[in-house]
Amino acid sequence: MNNFGIDIWSDNNFIIKGDTVCINSLSKPSLFDITKTIRKRDVRGPIILRFPHLIKKQIEKLYTTFNYAIEENSYRGNFQAVFPLKVNQFPHVVAAVTKEGFSHSYGLEAGSKAELILAMSKAPKNTNITVNGFKDKEMITLAFIAAQSGHNITVTIEGLGELKTIIAVAKESNLQTPNIGIRVRLHSTGSGTWAKSAGMDAKFGLTATEILEALRLLKEANLLKHFTMIHFHIGSQMDDIAPIKRALREAGNIYAELKMLGADALCNINIGGGLAVPYEQHNDAKLHNYSLEEFSSSVVFLLGEIMNAKGVSHPNIFTESGRFIVASHALLITPVLELFTQDYQEELLNLKEQNPPLVTELTELYKQLNTKNCIEYLHDALDHIESLLTLFDLGYIDLQDRSNAEILVHNIIKKSLKLTSHIHSNELKQLQVNLQERYLINASIFQSLPDYWGLKQHFPVMPLHHLSKKPLRGASIWDITCDSDGEIGFNPEKPLYLHDVDLEKEEYFLGFFNVGAYQETLGMEHNLFTHPNEYTVILNETSYEIVNEEESKSVIEILNAIGYKSDEVVNKLKSDLKKSDFITPKEKSDTLSKLDTLLQQNGYLRTTS
Ligand SMILES: Cc1ncc(COP(=O)(O)O)c(C=O)c1O
Repeated sequence: MNNFGIDIWSDNNFIIKGDTVCINSLSKPSLFDITKTIRKRDVRGPIILRFPHLIKKQIEKLYTTFNYAIEENSYRGNFQAVFPLKVNQFPHVVAAVTKEGFSHSYGLEAGSKAELILAMSKAPKNTNITVNGFKDKEMITLAFIAAQSGHNITVTIEGLGELKTIIAVAKESNLQTPNIGIRVRLHSTGSGTWAKSAGMDAKFGLTATEILEALRLLKEANLLKHFTMIHFHIGSQMDDIAPIKRALREAGNIYAELKMLGADALCNINIGGGLAVPYEQHNDAKLHNYSLEEFSSSVVFLLGEIMNAKGVSHPNIFTESGRFIVASHALLITPVLELFTQDYQEELLNLKEQNPPLVTELTELYKQLNTKNCIEYLHDALDHIESLLTLFDLGYIDLQDRSNAEILVHNIIKKSLKLTSHIHSNELKQLQVNLQERYLINASIFQSLPDYWGLKQHFPVMPLHHLSKKPLRGASIWDITCDSDGEIGFNPEKPLYLHDVDLEKEEYFLGFFNVGAYQETLGMEHNLFTHPNEYTVILNETSYEIVNEEESKSVIEILNAIGYKSDEVVNKLKSDLKKSDFITPKEKSDTLSKLDTLLQQNGYLRTTS
């Protein structure tokens, strides 16, 4: 996997050019150069880069592909879409989504009060707002206010109680009633990690009996004219198209039945989200089994077929796929702070006049290592180190001997991996697995890749440069939290190999790709690490521009955000220092200003010590 599977996950958004990975635009800027430019601003922690052109690309692709399928199938409904805010509510993402989606009337979906208020403030008036999730009277009143303010808003009810509240609010106020949608509970279930959203025991949606009761209640309250949509969502990141087709058949028939029962205003079927994103980077890994073309033509064809069979006019098709729209737009870049074995440098070898025989033997092995003998010598070295460690435990060799033995063995390993890089053998592969290097990254997996921490969701990862050299070290990645969960272990099924770099001489950065969906607000502040610095990269024909710098919270802001009074904290620290003895007034005032600087910095590491 020399190219880190870039042709599997990058959809041509990024390419390898020479030594570095570049944005696949006209000017092909390298991510390494962009990172170095940002680090000149004294940025040392992880960074998030946003690429609005990739949001635009996905929106265009979604509309073009569905509209093509509509034309091909002579379908008579239209295609509309909304972006589910839960996928990424960050301001520069919502700004890009609404800007790039404007010409398509791309709307927003909200699943909570805060998201609804965000949607009301950001959705252009030519677009739709849909509201899902559980709602109370206040949230429903907010939807009435949105309708009154001129938004084209549809409130999807998750249960009959919500419908009764809508009816009550409509009776009590003169505000405009929003459109009403019904989330239907399908017996068809989804597939993949996030497939718990449908099925008879799902958390959401109305059963057949409840749908009929809803229809009766709507008729009785004279609100049938507002009932415009049915909705379902069978799960995110659907890896198989078969369950989607089953769900469409079921929902399509519910739609047609409702039309025949007199739901005259009903004109939309909302198929929720589910479009999958390529997160894998290994050739034999399981990928989703459909393309957007197959997905859209299946939706359009099946709905057309059901409606034709039942003599019902074709509904407009809504989608709420958000992962598909924004996953690719964000990239997490983390500096590597340390390779755990980099301390075993040859210069630190301090051999005695008289060394234990096994240390002398290791020295000879190291000197004589060549392509022919290296596998045999590597075996010997691994055997010797076992014996030497036992001798140390029994008190027969001292700490200097042990240090010399460890340095020699690590250097034998490194040299052997280099000498054998051209050989493909299972044994060598196994040795690479056993002799992994640990790469310490200046980032928190809890904060920046929470789906890896919680669900073992893999994200494509690669170094930003050195790409013309073969990476030889089996790598596990450790973050800077004090937690053993903060690790992406080496997985022999999906191995990651990185370069052996000397971090004293050069910097090494890892990029985690396709992290634009869900990770940012799901990310948690474990150990009080917060959202990294972020930057938007705008491309032009000849170059790029870095805009919208948003800095990570300072350590004092972090404490403030969880309820501490920052003034009290700062005053306590300063008064303790002022009261301290044994330093001169000048040293005191210098230390106080140093403290001020430290409190204004973010929590990520600036250097390794
Ligand atoms: C109702 C609803 N619509 C849309 C989505 C977004 O789906 P996706 O993650 O496929 O973008 C979700 C996510 O779970 C959802 O629950």
